[in-house]
Amino acid sequence: MTSIHPGNLHGTGDRTNKSRYHYARQRVQEAQKSKMEESDGARREETARKQTNNGLIVILILMIVLTWGIAATAYFGVIDYKGLVVRGSRIKVTDAAGYASALYPFQYDSARHPLKAIGKFLTSIDDYITNFLFSSEVSTNSLKKHRPIVRTIPLNKESNIVKRDTSKSESVVSDDPNPTKKPAEEKDVAKASDPSNDKDKPRKAKSPQPKQPKDSSTKKTKQETVKTNESTKKKKPSTVSEEDKKILNKLKEGERLLEKKKGTEAWKYFKKLSADYPESPKARFYRGKSEAMVAEQQKSNPMLTQAITTFTEVSEMSNCPKELQKQALIAKGERESFLGRMKPALQTQIELAKLYPKDIGILNKLGVRYLMLGKNTAAKKVYAEVLRLSPNDGFALVHMGFILKNAGEWAESVPYLMRGTESNEQGTQEGKFYFHLGDALYRTNQTKEAEQVYEKAAAKGLFRSKYQRSLYNVDRLRGKPFWTPEEAGVKDYVRRLELNWKLIRDEAMAILNTDTGLFDGESESLRDTGEWKQFPLFQRGRKEEANCRRTPKTCNILERMPNAAGCRRGQVKFSVMMPGTHVWPHTGPTNCRLRMHLGLVIPTTGSGTRLTCAGEMRTWQEGKVWIFDDSFEHEVWQQADSLRLILIVDIWHPDITEHEKKTLTAI
Ligand code: LMR
Ligand code: MN
Repeated sequence: MTSIHPGNLHGTGDRTNKSRYHYARQRVQEAQKSKMEESDGARREETARKQTNNGLIVILILMIVLTWGIAATAYFGVIDYKGLVVRGSRIKVTDAAGYASALYPFQYDSARHPLKAIGKFLTSIDDYITNFLFSSEVSTNSLKKHRPIVRTIPLNKESNIVKRDTSKSESVVSDDPNPTKKPAEEKDVAKASDPSNDKDKPRKAKSPQPKQPKDSSTKKTKQETVKTNESTKKKKPSTVSEEDKKILNKLKEGERLLEKKKGTEAWKYFKKLSADYPESPKARFYRGKSEAMVAEQQKSNPMLTQAITTFTEVSEMSNCPKELQKQALIAKGERESFLGRMKPALQTQIELAKLYPKDIGILNKLGVRYLMLGKNTAAKKVYAEVLRLSPNDGFALVHMGFILKNAGEWAESVPYLMRGTESNEQGTQEGKFYFHLGDALYRTNQTKEAEQVYEKAAAKGLFRSKYQRSLYNVDRLRGKPFWTPEEAGVKDYVRRLELNWKLIRDEAMAILNTDTGLFDGESESLRDTGEWKQFPLFQRGRKEEANCRRTPKTCNILERMPNAAGCRRGQVKFSVMMPGTHVWPHTGPTNCRLRMHLGLVIPTTGSGTRLTCAGEMRTWQEGKVWIFDDSFEHEVWQQADSLRLILIVDIWHPDITEHEKKTLTAI
């Protein structure tokens, strides 16, 4: 191997003046040098190669990161998911309703990936709606003795004041955050309001939020009443330790920065103060608060994580007063939940419940935390305990009712939901509780009562009308059960679908004839009887690639219909219904879409197939499209002798703006 140097710079010119020895030595030296240079060169080459390799590795990593970034952005939209930062280290603020909607419990098409949705960020730290996931693995046996009977137990507001029970009670808190062996069925999901009486909760957020279209689901109802809190009359328990007493003035000074929302200044201040006085729990607690404030002001995930760490430290300090420990754990749990870290949030709530096993607020939230992880059995035990301590607690009543309803125990759920909603307590005036109450009444043959519930909720502004009971709405949109293609602005789509209906039908029939198993069964207990399956092609504005490979022509047609394929609040899917099917009256999750039905295989035998929407009846015709608004109550019967096949194509509501199409969260 030759030296990388062009020649021996010392080997020429003055050689004659040197002794032989010198020469000899020089030769030896030269030889050594050249060898050295040779190996030096080799080393350098090696280094260069390594550098090139390193460079390649870096490029590769960058490419992976970049690809992930692009993929993640495409996949999750413009939002973060479970703390994964898609764009910089910013918390993305989007409408909570959208997130909750991803967990919508009543719609046939919903809840494909409910857990995915749970991790997404909500409106803001201090003003977010808690989403949670319900599954239906519950039995009511354990509850029988606590079951309220709606007519015999009059609602007694006073009894909301919890009498401290000093007798030993069986703890509802288990150390195991995964008490159910079976993974939660991703079956039925919903959102819940936050039951916390979190004293640490910052006041109304002034944080900058991107303008979102107004979703009526985010509205708070006027009927909400704040629960009487006995502790407000009592002397507040102290949050100050001996160590804190030594620096009270310093703590006060920093507190003022927090009050003035000077996040960064407060953070710097308390970072130093907690370093100077490491034994002061309060200084550390305020440090956590200031970190949380900075996190929110700067939309920074790493800072929020830091706040969680700090709150943990506070809660673990041996000299931390119990009340401060409570506040630190509450603050910690809120942030964990906000970041979609539901398991740690549950663990935190379990810790809190161990400290305060009879605190209704803490137990109610524990129930929500369990529910968010699909641990309904555990949640049910918690609510049973709350109702044992405080039999008329509205929050526990509606949640217990909700759990029972979603477990298919309709009759059992009614008194809970009824008494819970009638309590008007905070967290009970939610559309979904009325929705389920009405549904449970209807399904137990109490149709008149169901109607009254719907009317009442509509009057309260929880539904748009007694028939239009979608919960994720844009207020401005016109609403009526049936639409013409002209009115819906889709004359062209309808024409193309009707022109191509046979090839669309053939693609669907090919799957039905060979791989019926590829159709998904209805999993949201909308069915009363029979069999009803679907094969999705587009969901939430995204193509179902694998399915579209089996129906390329249909997907090709649809891809040229951006208001359908790109409808992030809808789906495109084949829907097959077998004879003997009855679908309970139900409503879709949102008023932002209209639903086209293209008849593909429509039997004319038997007593036929039909759909009723808001009391108006329609039947299908092969090769023909009609359009309805599925946010209105609809009910389906299939009483023919053979299967019925249609293509369902959701389109953006014609009143939805281009901006809304881009910014409304997917459902
Ligand atoms: C619905 O949209 O709920 C039903 O009409 C679907 C179907 O297959 O009939
Ligand atoms: Mn429907």
